[in-house]
Amino acid sequence: MVELANVTLSYDGKEILKDFNLKIAGGERLVILGRSGSGKTTILRLIAGFTVPERGRIMIDGKVVAEEGKILVPPHRREIGMVFQDLALWPHMNVGENIAFGLKIRKVPRKERRKKVEEMLQVVGLEGYEKRRIDQLSGGQQQRVALARALALSPKLLLMDEPLSSLDPELNSRLRQEIVRLHALFGFTLVYVTHSKEEAEEIGERRIVL
Ligand SMILES: Nc1ncnc2c1ncn2[C@@H]1O[C@H](COP(=O)(O)OP(=O)(O)OP(=O)(O)O)[C@@H](O)[C@H]1O
Ligand SMILES: [Mg+2]
Repeated sequence: MVELANVTLSYDGKEILKDFNLKIAGGERLVILGRSGSGKTTILRLIAGFTVPERGRIMIDGKVVAEEGKILVPPHRREIGMVFQDLALWPHMNVGENIAFGLKIRKVPRKERRKKVEEMLQVVGLEGYEKRRIDQLSGGQQQRVALARALALSPKLLLMDEPLSSLDPELNSRLRQEIVRLHALFGFTLVYVTHSKEEAEEIGERRIVL
């Protein structure tokens, strides 16, 4: 499904990844662990297409998407769901509009969008928050909106960068189980970055440490 082959990447002359190899099977739940600054987010950005490998190549579904400093398939053409550390929610849209955004771009009819938004709000436990503005939410609630937005598109590949880190233990536990349940339901491939042992154990079928 995803392959990074001999990927080398440096910032300001410092090598972050050197001849890095990683194969992720379709439908797998892979957890990436590693200390701060070890390159976890960088790997997700490479898969998503926001960062280009200096050397080596990146393949998705058998197709080379980036190679030797060149992007061959841009991020929006890779059909990847993402929940990144900075969340990147749209501050000028309410919760429902954020969740429906990708569906609207894909011209999914309004009625279907509403249904999907409702379903996703339920999944992440934010029923009744549809009309709230993003800046009127707590950090944990914003994380759940980001999760709902990514899941709404039923992506084949989902990248998550510490998506549950600011949640309280109870909600963290609930959403961990929810992610595993949704994975079983939809069968997407999951690449999940975390510092948490509980998350790594529950979510990862395979774990790698950088
Ligand atoms: N755009 C950039 N320009 C320069 N250096 C960068 C850039 N992005 C990342 N780095 C550096 O690359 C290294 C790896 O960063 P990365 O964000 O992948 O780490 P991480 O494992 O996700 O860390 P954390 O657990 O703190 O999120 C760090 O040393 C970081 O300072
Ligand atoms: Mg990071």
